[in-house]
Amino acid sequence: MAQNRDQWGSKLGFILAAVGSAVGLGNIWRYPYLLYSSGGGAFLVPYFFALLTAGIPLMILEYGFGHKFKGSTPMSLARANRKWEWLGWWPSLNSLVILIYYSAILGWAINYLIFSFTQSWGADTNTFFFGEFLNLSDSVFNFGGFRPAIFAGMTLIWFCNWFICYRGVSGGIEKLNRILLPTLIGIMLVITLRGVTLPGATVGLNKLFTPDWSRVLDPKVWIAAYGQIFFSLSLAMGVMITYSSYLPEKTDINNSAFMTAFANCGFEFMAALGVFGILGFMATSQGVAIEEVAKQGVGLAFVVFPKVFTLMGPLGTIFGILFFVCLVFAGLTSSVSMVEAFSSAVIDKTGADRKKVVTATAICGYLVGTVFATGSGLYILDIVDHFINSYGIVVIGLAEAAIVGWLYGAHKIREHVNPISIYPIGKWWEVMIKFVTPTILAFMLIQNFIAEIKAPYEGYPISALLLLGWGVVGAIIIVSFMISAKPWKEGALNIPAIKGVK
Ligand code: PFF
Repeated sequence: MAQNRDQWGSKLGFILAAVGSAVGLGNIWRYPYLLYSSGGGAFLVPYFFALLTAGIPLMILEYGFGHKFKGSTPMSLARANRKWEWLGWWPSLNSLVILIYYSAILGWAINYLIFSFTQSWGADTNTFFFGEFLNLSDSVFNFGGFRPAIFAGMTLIWFCNWFICYRGVSGGIEKLNRILLPTLIGIMLVITLRGVTLPGATVGLNKLFTPDWSRVLDPKVWIAAYGQIFFSLSLAMGVMITYSSYLPEKTDINNSAFMTAFANCGFEFMAALGVFGILGFMATSQGVAIEEVAKQGVGLAFVVFPKVFTLMGPLGTIFGILFFVCLVFAGLTSSVSMVEAFSSAVIDKTGADRKKVVTATAICGYLVGTVFATGSGLYILDIVDHFINSYGIVVIGLAEAAIVGWLYGAHKIREHVNPISIYPIGKWWEVMIKFVTPTILAFMLIQNFIAEIKAPYEGYPISALLLLGWGVVGAIIIVSFMISAKPWKEGALNIPAIKGVK
């Protein structure tokens, strides 16, 4: 139970795990394209603005809150005020849902890692990915056939998710990050250094950085910047509150938040350089414009990049292997953080044994995840991802800032973190949490909603959007309130005193 709560072996272990959660697929395949398509160098203005006004303030809030209340997200919120527990279940359940599709993508990456040894994707990587590999059906509701290879990849990922969290915080998650994160950074550095020195790389880098200042006036670009900061820093997911609850009494909060944020942003910046160097090489060697090869998400990782690796000859085999190892490592350190965010919530609420809860979570996630091993997996993933990110995360971030800022009192968190941190944070932090973050998130929410009503997302049938989009978001909210209505075990909401200072 709470008194025997696991702890990080060291502060470095905590930071590595937090950075491991933050650095994920979003950094490698989303950020580079976002930077390129949202104004190039000019995008850095809204991006850093979002980082400083929402990313870092919310990170300090989550770290401070988790550390103060020493519990998973629902437990921490319930300890602050029993009425706020639902706001802890919501992100924890969101994490579970993201975890399920995120693990499916990692299952694809495992397959592509194997393909990269022989470059078995062939010359037409587009047809290979959507046709032969995914066997994408013609609509969301047509499941098409079952894909055993995808299922096998997912099985491996779920085994890792389970195994790491089963072994606990310091014995599992911390160890994993101590090995995987430095390796990941090292590999990414190699890819980037080679990427930017490839013939034609400057073409890509010029495109990436040439500022288009007119884009900075577009609200969509600002929304994209805030969206990226939230997803990338794993904020409003229950992860950072949970992770900081495993810190010892005396620890540094403020500096840790800055370090996590800057490490994450540094990594994504490095990834952008590498990706656009490689894209520049591809465009030059094919004699086409960057616009034609610049892609994000699955299109970048599973269509464009395999093609570049083929073009590169023998070097491409090594590059391909390294790239997919990167995706898998970056993804795994994020996926275990989601398993932990959800499992710790259940462990705290039920008092059940970690091993049992982690095993049950992994089995359920794995079984539900089989839907992604069908021909409509990519559609389902796309819809669920869109709604969770556009509404789940934004509303939770807004509610966190508003509830902690106004109802609980931002000053209480500041009074908690400042005496234990190396550098105190000033009053500006309270202004961000109480005014700036909620205002911007409310604006984002309204804008997203207007866009949603104007046109159905990606032209999917309304029934699919209602069921998989609004339906999933709605179900998560209802379940959050239902679980919150259940009573806690006697004394569970008392904050334990943890002495062990490390
Ligand atoms: N931050 C991760 C990324 O950028 O890919 C994604 C992520 C991790 C989302 C953890 C949610 C989460 F709980």
